Amino acid sequence: EKAGFEHFMIKEIHEQPKAVHDTINSVVKDGAIDLSEVGLTEEQIKNISQIYIVACGSAYHVGVACQYVFEDLAEIPVRVELASEFRYRKMVLDPNGLVIIVSQSGETADSLAALRLAKKKGVKTLGIVNVVGSSIAREADNVFYTLAGPEIAVATTKAYSTQLIAGYCLAVQFAKVRGSIDDTQYAHLIDEMQQLPDKIAKILEDKERIQWFAAKQANAGDIFFIGRGIDYAISLEGSLKMKEISYIHSEAYAAGELKHGTISLIEDGTLVIGVLTQSELYEKTVSNMVECKSRGAYLMGLTTYGNYNIEDTVSFTVYIPKTDEHFATSLAVIPLQLMGYYVSVAKGLDVDKPRNLAKSVTVE
Ligand code: M6R
Repeated sequence: EKAGFEHFMIKEIHEQPKAVHDTINSVVKDGAIDLSEVGLTEEQIKNISQIYIVACGSAYHVGVACQYVFEDLAEIPVRVELASEFRYRKMVLDPNGLVIIVSQSGETADSLAALRLAKKKGVKTLGIVNVVGSSIAREADNVFYTLAGPEIAVATTKAYSTQLIAGYCLAVQFAKVRGSIDDTQYAHLIDEMQQLPDKIAKILEDKERIQWFAAKQANAGDIFFIGRGIDYAISLEGSLKMKEISYIHSEAYAAGELKHGTISLIEDGTLVIGVLTQSELYEKTVSNMVECKSRGAYLMGLTTYGNYNIEDTVSFTVYIPKTDEHFATSLAVIPLQLMGYYVSVAKGLDVDKPRNLAKSVTVE
C-alpha cells in the first residue's frame, strides 16, 4: 500500500500534485470559483467583517499563511488563533465574523471545542476538513472539503497542501465578490493556482539534491528557519517538519525578530535556512542572513528562480519556480518537507510514526 515508496510520508509528498489539482478542480469551474457546495452566498461573503482562523499544528500554519492572502486580496481583517488558546480566552467575537476551523482529521479535540464555542457565541463557522463525516465536518455550518485522500504519516504533507488551496480559493473568491480585485486579477490568480500542481511536480524531480544536503545535516543540533511575511509562515511549517520527524531542535523566526534575542544562539556552523519568496521583503531578509553569517552561521537559501545573487551570501540554494507570490507557500514548503523527511531517513528514525505523537490529537 506504500506503492513502492519506502514510507507513507514520501508517498504522500509525491501525491501532492494530484491532491492539489483535485482540490482546485472541486471548486474551479469554467475559470471561476464556485462556492455553492461550500454553502456561502454572495450576500454572506459581503457581510463578513472579521475572519478568525482557528487550528492546531500544521493546520495553524496554513492559517498564518492564508492570513496574508485574505488581508491582501480580500481586505478583510484576519486573526489566526491556536485552538487550544482560543477556546480558553474570553474573546470578544465580532457577530459578523466568520470562524474558519482548519483540520485534516476533523477530530482534533481543541479545534472541535473551538468550533463549538464559536457556534455557542452565535458566530458563523466554516470547516476546512479532509475526513468526510468527521465531527468538525458534521458540526460546522459550512464545509470546504480538501481532497487529499487518506493521510497515514503522522507528519502532514498533502493535507497541509490542500488546506492552503482551500484558503486561497476562499480568499480569491471573497476578493472577487467584495470588489477588491478586478476581473483580470481574478483570472490571473486562478490561472496561477492551476499551475501549482505542475510546479510542485517539477520541484519533486530535484529531490536527490535535497536528499544529499539533508544527509549532511543529520548531526545538526539546532536549525533556524527565518523569513518575513508569507516566508515566516513557510518557516513555521519547515521547522515543525524538522522537529517532529527528525528530532532536531529547530525554531522558526520572523527574520526581523532575530536581533531581539535569538541571534545569541547562533554559533559557528549553526544551520540557518532563509526563506525568500516575497520580492518586497527579499533584501531585508538577506541582510538578516548576512548578520547570522557574520556570527558563524552556515546558510541555506530557499528562493525563486532569478534571485541568483543569493549565492553571494549563502552556501546552498534551492530554487523554486515563480508563481504569484500569494501562493509561494505551496511551492516553498515542498523542499522543506523533503528536508525533514531525508534528515529523518538519514538518522534511521521511524519517519511515519515519530515518538510521542499521534496522527489525530483527540485529547486536550
Ligand atoms: O487533524 P488536524 O489537522 O486537526 O491536526 C492538527 C495537528 O495535530 C497536525 O497538523 C500536526 O501538527 C501534524 N502532525 C504536523 O505534521
